[in-house]
Amino acid sequence: MEGLSKNEEVGVGVQQIADYEIVQQLGEGSGGQVWLGRTPARLEISDDVVAIKTLSHAASDADFARLTDYLQLYASISSPNLVRLFDVGQQGNIIYLAGEYLPAGSLARPSRPFSRVDVLRAMADISRGAHALHEIGIAHRSIRPGNAMIGDHGAKLGDIGLSQLLSPGQTVTGTSRVSVIEYLPPELVQGQQASRASDVWALGATLHKVLTGQPLYPGLPTESLVSALRHILNERPTMGDALRNGERHIIEASVAVDPSERPSTAEALAIAIATEADRQAEKART
Ligand SMILES: Nc1ncnc2c1ncn2[C@@H]1O[C@H](COP(=O)(O)OP(=O)(O)O)[C@@H](O)[C@H]1O
Ligand SMILES: [Mg+2]
Repeated sequence: MEGLSKNEEVGVGVQQIADYEIVQQLGEGSGGQVWLGRTPARLEISDDVVAIKTLSHAASDADFARLTDYLQLYASISSPNLVRLFDVGQQGNIIYLAGEYLPAGSLARPSRPFSRVDVLRAMADISRGAHALHEIGIAHRSIRPGNAMIGDHGAKLGDIGLSQLLSPGQTVTGTSRVSVIEYLPPELVQGQQASRASDVWALGATLHKVLTGQPLYPGLPTESLVSALRHILNERPTMGDALRNGERHIIEASVAVDPSERPSTAEALAIAIATEADRQAEKART
């Protein structure tokens, strides 16, 4: 079958992306569309199918070069808590990333019931995944429930590699939707570089959302991005009522305005969350 011609949009009814035979569309997100595709033999992996993300913004050669460099760097980390990335390619204007397919979805919409302890354990895993990325000098920059993917043996941080595509100089307003800015720490809104600490904030905001179902900023204006960003700079996060004390302490520390007051690493946060999970599990037994 022919691949897509240059400039052709990947759209409904697509059957082939590069040498991937498309089985179905899995969804659509902030950066583009996600497809289920059959694994070409050249990848030499045991997975029969992979999740392929096609990026909707026009990609430059520089974007592609950055992404392939990143893939090489990324291949050097092995963490059970990061979604595996197998391939990056370009077809016409379209860049695609092929990675591990996780049929159970994400914590944003889990495909099976999750107990509170399960949620905490999953978030400890996601924090460990973030730490593994940080250890090679990369900030994820879009940690949120929809990127906390559920695996067979623990949770895995997804959308790895996408942040590498956003050019370093790109502003928050240029890249964000109102629905994701509740995961942005104030220092990023002010234009600072992403860091371990900014990912720790996003982990705290994600933990808050998956435990309470509520956003950190209940009054966030949604009519315009600018007013939403202003709100983040002027207001403090509000802790949901449904939080247990131990959870509240962890989240409050993670979303401290001063980055130096947050847990110093995502691993430290992972340990705190896992300890809280153990404590709750123990309490449920007695
Ligand atoms: N590796 C994957 N395996 C299975 N489903 C995935 C995978 N990656 C993304 N999806 C699904 O595709 C949809 C869109 O994902 P994505 O583009 O990453 O959205 P978002 O921008 O919200 O992160 C979501 O429903 C997500 O659960
Ligand atoms: Mg995603």
